[in-house]
Amino acid sequence: MSQVSGKNPYRPGVGVRPLYLAGREAPLRRFAAMLRAAPEQQANMRVTGLRGVGKSVLLEEFADHAKEFDWEPALAELQPSHNTDEALTTAVGALLEHTRQRLSRLARLRSVAGRALRATSMSLTWEEVTLAVSFGSEREEDLARDLFSTVELALAKGRNGVVLLLDEAQLVRDERDRHGEHPLSLLIAPVVALQRAELPLGLVLCGLPTLTGNLQKARSYSERLFRGEEIGSLESEQALEAFIRPLGETARRTDAKLAREVVAEVEGYPYFLQLWGSELWEAADLAGVERFSVKLLDATRPDIYGRLDRDFYEPRIATLTPAEQDLLASSAACPYPPLRSADLNRASEKTPGNVNVLLGRLVDAGALYRIRKGEYAYTAPKFRDYLVRRGG
Ligand SMILES: Nc1ncnc2c1ncn2[C@@H]1O[C@H](COP(=O)(O)OP(=O)(O)OP(=O)(O)O)[C@@H](O)[C@H]1O
Ligand SMILES: [Mg+2]
Repeated sequence: MSQVSGKNPYRPGVGVRPLYLAGREAPLRRFAAMLRAAPEQQANMRVTGLRGVGKSVLLEEFADHAKEFDWEPALAELQPSHNTDEALTTAVGALLEHTRQRLSRLARLRSVAGRALRATSMSLTWEEVTLAVSFGSEREEDLARDLFSTVELALAKGRNGVVLLLDEAQLVRDERDRHGEHPLSLLIAPVVALQRAELPLGLVLCGLPTLTGNLQKARSYSERLFRGEEIGSLESEQALEAFIRPLGETARRTDAKLAREVVAEVEGYPYFLQLWGSELWEAADLAGVERFSVKLLDATRPDIYGRLDRDFYEPRIATLTPAEQDLLASSAACPYPPLRSADLNRASEKTPGNVNVLLGRLVDAGALYRIRKGEYAYTAPKFRDYLVRRGG
């Protein structure tokens, strides 16, 4: 219709980079400072936040920043199937192998271009590392050797270090049983051992708030080794920018009143800002108007919430068992926040034992996270409104 307006500039999605990344200067600054302080200081960061706040996008931004500082980023998203010692070793091993291949290719290109390689090299050999550090298991040692050779290659090719960036890291957790699986500690222990030997190696673990508890419970008592970075909704000024700036290159504009209304309605959550913007854009196309207005929003709201439920909430519920879904549905009748198991026991017809087991499973499935004993929160922003909408 109004072709002059150009293309829809909003990017609602999973890990889809926005045209304008609003309000993440502070974590980016701290990430840069962390790399600068390595290897004398341990470069470990934990990034947590709710669904759709922009963790994955920030992690990619970290990777770009790392390259600017001549660090080699190794970025991957962990899967539920990686939650065993063996699968974790294989996954991280493959990531490192891939990183080494990339480094080798890059080095060839550089020498073809006739650029002198920097003279930095490792002051340490693998034999010296194994003498200084005792590894907990053969797997730990294998992973350490993989990490070592990747850093070694990176340095030989003129990089300052290697930083591992792992998304959805809440999926990997240690079992309590001493003889059980401890993939989280298996990942952290060799990294920390090599960092103690002052290897320029960084680790960023990113995921749902559950990650914090997993690290506290990890066998390696690793929580205090990480700088914590909590990613939340945007302050209203930043949220306004996230909403308005993408329109910059287009012929379309927004009424200030509408922008403020959107920011208030979505409470500054990045995914929602992109979704509201995108839907308003399409509605404006259809209506053939050049301005976003409160009137346009009012007319579009049912479509927006329809898409929000379909694209954002429903896929997260779809993977849960009927019993888990039931319990979530009953949680809509409880006071919130937080969601208390005592209230849930009153609201649900299930036995307290059953409620407890299901709560644990909902945490494992990433639908809830545990704040403290008996208190939980939803991992998706405004999830309760969704449950109420669905029930009503
Ligand atoms: N700082 C930001 N400014 C503007 N938009 C953003 C910002 N951060 C993220 N977004 C947008 O928000 C959406 C969600 O981003 P992303 O997938 O990174 O979130 P997430 O926290 O990784 O979510 P999940 O927990 O579901 O993986 C994307 O559409 C992205 O473009
Ligand atoms: Mg993500």
